[in-house]
Amino acid sequence: MKIVVIQGPNLNMLGVREQQIYGSMKLEHIHAQMKDFATTNGAEIEFFQSNLEGELVDKIQECYGDADGIIINAAAYTHTSIAIRDAISAVNLPTIEVHISNIYRREEFRKTNMIAPVCASSIVGFGPFGYHLAMIGMFQFMSDIEVAREAQKQAESAQN
Ligand code: DQA
Repeated sequence: MKIVVIQGPNLNMLGVREQQIYGSMKLEHIHAQMKDFATTNGAEIEFFQSNLEGELVDKIQECYGDADGIIINAAAYTHTSIAIRDAISAVNLPTIEVHISNIYRREEFRKTNMIAPVCASSIVGFGPFGYHLAMIGMFQFMSDIEVAREAQKQAESAQN
């Protein structure tokens, strides 16, 4: 199983930017913890960060046929990007969006979320720990999918 973690604009500044909102943990540290968790549980994991909308769309498209699930924090593009939303819809992979802060308790413009309706789930307001919750959630989705596939196989073989 392969998980791709996609990080949007300014998340490369974690640990420096607005620590009262986003905490003091750097992105590398968050990714190191996610990698540990993935490795321990036998999954492959890849990380990608970009400040550019088109690069994020390209990366989501690359996941098609290559990844089993996506964890994404589209950051500010969450509130504006139809292109990222359409890319997530297009690849049709189990996708979990993460927001470090609780976007629903902040400025009005952050309450607009273009991404959430095309994601399997959203994790919001847990700080950097949200990425760990997303990993647990992703493993749960994968195991549910496996169980459903197995049940389908058994139903098919019972028919033959
Ligand atoms: C964010 C919330 C967004 O509104 C903001 O633009 C970010 C980070 C979060 O993780 O809380 O860059 O996605």
